[in-house]
Amino acid sequence: KRCVAVVLAAGQGKRMGTTVQKQYIELNGKPLIYYALRTFQESDIIDEMVLVVGKGQISYAEHEIVEKYGFSKVRAIVEGGKERYDSVWQGLKAVASDEEAYYIFIHDGARPFVDNGILKRGYETVKRFRACVAGMPSKDTIKVVDDEGFAVNTPDRKYVWVIQTPQVFEKTLIVEAYSRLMEGEHRDVTDDAMAVERMMKVPVKMFEGSYQNVKITTPEDLEIAEVLL
Ligand code: CTP
Ligand code: MG
Repeated sequence: KRCVAVVLAAGQGKRMGTTVQKQYIELNGKPLIYYALRTFQESDIIDEMVLVVGKGQISYAEHEIVEKYGFSKVRAIVEGGKERYDSVWQGLKAVASDEEAYYIFIHDGARPFVDNGILKRGYETVKRFRACVAGMPSKDTIKVVDDEGFAVNTPDRKYVWVIQTPQVFEKTLIVEAYSRLMEGEHRDVTDDAMAVERMMKVPVKMFEGSYQNVKITTPEDLEIAEVLL
């Protein structure tokens, strides 16, 4: 069944604090966003991609990223929106009416170390469960705290997973979840799985990402990325 990746690169990168948006920062001579796109391009799992970029960046992305590096699987480049969910919604709209598209892989462009093993596990898992997200068991002990900063409880580590992307869904399920989300007023979802859990009441299965599949968020993460590359 046909798999489309929606790759998000429309964020401001405020926590990175650089003048160049973090998705375009050069790592080993290539922009950060290049690495995730290359993995999708070379993957036997992924058929097509939709790239979501910031306002006014479509033509830059088209020439300086997609054409320059030969990412022929990119079928559309669209402008994102203010919040991450706005950008996801713009990306989903670009594939919603495509009858052939069956599974959607939503991926943070700021995660350059996604690999084909992760994509394979996502594909196997979504076929069985319709909705799944990459993640890893937390290496750290997690405490839930109250408003005053006192520890309330300590969930058993085996039940605590740190969430990554890709998050993978049947197209009809994720499109419906986001249409309902965007119609409503409460959009306080921090990931795509939350939209499906809340709007569709469909349980979301975890699959194994990797400890390397980090999100590049702050300047320290760039140093980590250089080491991993
Ligand atoms: N993203 C997006 N559209 C937004 C916000 C985020 O496409 N309105 C994308 C980012 O480009 C990134 C991913 O979602 O690939 C994860 O977001 P995050 O790491 O928070 O990136 P930024 O929002 O760019 O960074 P910050 O929150 O520090 O401003
Ligand atoms: Mg953000």
